[in-house]
Amino acid sequence: MTRRQAICSLLSATAVAAAGTTAQAKTVQLQPPRASGGKPLIDALKLRRSIREYSNKPLEPQLLSDLMWSAFGINRPATGDRTAPYWRHVMVIDVYAAMADGVWFYDPKLHALVLHQEDDLRAQTGLQDFVAAAPLNLVYVAHGERMQDVSVEERHLYASADACFIGQNVYLFCASEGLATVFRAAVDKQALAKAMHLEPEQFVNLRANGRPSEAGTRIGSLHGRKLATSRFSSSSGRSRTKTGLDQTSAVE
Ligand SMILES: Cc1cc2nc3c(=O)[nH]c(=O)nc-3n(C[C@H](O)[C@H](O)[C@H](O)COP(=O)(O)O)c2cc1C
Repeated sequence: MTRRQAICSLLSATAVAAAGTTAQAKTVQLQPPRASGGKPLIDALKLRRSIREYSNKPLEPQLLSDLMWSAFGINRPATGDRTAPYWRHVMVIDVYAAMADGVWFYDPKLHALVLHQEDDLRAQTGLQDFVAAAPLNLVYVAHGERMQDVSVEERHLYASADACFIGQNVYLFCASEGLATVFRAAVDKQALAKAMHLEPEQFVNLRANGRPSEAGTRIGSLHGRKLATSRFSSSSGRSRTKTGLDQTSAVE
């Protein structure tokens, strides 16, 4: 039994409190996601962009809840289906939230964060300076063992597609809420997988991060500000994307 399965078993045997942290399972029940609201889709699409400057202020509880739900929460409770499409109806991707107080597994059924480890691994979620201070880094972990009858190459392809859909949900949610985010492939995936104690069949995929909406961090107020210096802040979108995909395909 893996560590996560053990935690989930514990969870199913433990009534999770309606709010707050349960000591036994180290589970934080997120507030119910908002049932409506946000910007109209076209407005969010107009605002969608990558931002690489972050305040270190943690996300407010409701924003964190809505962000996790938007990323890969359950939008059809009758079937347990998700806000993002996924390969062959197999839920290959698990979303982890790397924050200052540890790395948390997002359990969509409970809409809760389950403590995976207490270490602050934010600095290891990317090769760029801003990742260490960003309050939240989402890590998309692909479970190769859940993908049957396909080659390793296809596993990476479909797992990357699944992760990209989740990443786009996060982009649109952040655009709607005035939060910053950037989808990232520039990370030492093997080192992060090791730090997260992942099983051999599990691999770190692409990731994004969000941050709080506060003065100076809202998308609107960032126009004209200099972005963090990195090869990803040049104007050559084509080569940047290629770099990301190359790195992704090297993962396992
Ligand atoms: C597959 C993929 C990997 C990416 N990896 C990184 C990354 O590691 N670091 C980064 O700063 N941006 C990364 N990006 C963001 C792109 O650089 C960004 O989306 C692109 O420059 C276009 O800018 P925009 O999102 O503001 O429209 C990645 C995007 C994609 C789709």
